[in-house]
Amino acid sequence: MNENLLPIHFAPLQGYTDAAYRQAHNRIFGGISTYYSPFARVEHGEIRRKDIRDIEPENNPNIHLIPQLIAPNREKAEQIASLFIEKGYREINVNLGCPFPALAKRHNGAGMLPYPEEVTDMLSSLVENHPDTRFSVKMRLGWDDPEECLRLLPLFNRLPLTHIVLHPRLGKQQYKGEVNLDAFKAFDDGCSVPLLYNGDLHTVEEIRSIAERFPRLAGIVIGRGLLANPALAMEYQQGTPLSSDEMARKVGELHTEMFHFYQEMLQGGETQLLMKMKSFWEYLLPDGDRKARKIIHKTSKLANYQAAVSNLLGSY
Ligand SMILES: Cc1cc2nc3c(=O)[nH]c(=O)nc-3n(C[C@H](O)[C@H](O)[C@H](O)COP(=O)(O)O)c2cc1C
Repeated sequence: MNENLLPIHFAPLQGYTDAAYRQAHNRIFGGISTYYSPFARVEHGEIRRKDIRDIEPENNPNIHLIPQLIAPNREKAEQIASLFIEKGYREINVNLGCPFPALAKRHNGAGMLPYPEEVTDMLSSLVENHPDTRFSVKMRLGWDDPEECLRLLPLFNRLPLTHIVLHPRLGKQQYKGEVNLDAFKAFDDGCSVPLLYNGDLHTVEEIRSIAERFPRLAGIVIGRGLLANPALAMEYQQGTPLSSDEMARKVGELHTEMFHFYQEMLQGGETQLLMKMKSFWEYLLPDGDRKARKIIHKTSKLANYQAAVSNLLGSY
């Protein structure tokens, strides 16, 4: 392969890419230059304990992790950034892309995009208060108008951001409809900060096609495509797909590791463990045996679940 390969970042996915998953993924598959933690936020004045545990450096060895925060104002952003810095991080990602209505309506995530003065206040105060920390932004085109991201360009170009990750959908679209590549291009044209593309990439060909269409890209950020095929980044880097046997073996290893981790963490609660493992399969190997996938999603018995997983991997 003589193409110029772009670094692949693993997008944060709340409920999926926790510290245990990131560790297992990196060890078994690899190919990722940067992982992000799902966002930490302030709830009732405090940062959730679960979010703190997720970014503890001792739970994140051997990977390049950028912790992410989501906040509706400078005070809350500051509270979370201070915690990250106290834990030793010098890179922080700020979420301006989350579309969940409950958060967005309080001007968190993509809900802040229509208010440039609020974005300016939050980002400027972070950058000014922490000159030794490098900030990046993960965002959408806007909440309900792709002009919103263009209105923010002068601010972004002025701030010392390390990079911007842009998912070219609107917040109000959630995950529906097509990504808007023309709007991505308009942002790319005016953006002097290193820009990474994020959205709907599921195959090596799709990654290559985006890299070709936007030659200035500094990298590619992939979420659901990597949950579906955890080898995707590695296959892009190596230029060859994994054989079905190898894939089944590696996914089996990932599954075993996550199963044991959650079994210990949830301390014997079979129903809870099953629920967690079902969500593990929500995106994984979508073209795996349909009958086995159906059993995985429907069963209330751990033994049936385990047999279905064996069948799915055995027939892959
Ligand atoms: C279940 C779920 C949880 C997510 N959690 C986060 C999050 O914590 N922080 C964030 O920036 N984006 C989050 N996202 C958005 C993804 O990081 C990514 O931007 C989006 O899925 C589009 O990329 P993809 O098509 O490669 O998945 C989440 C998406 C999903 C589906």
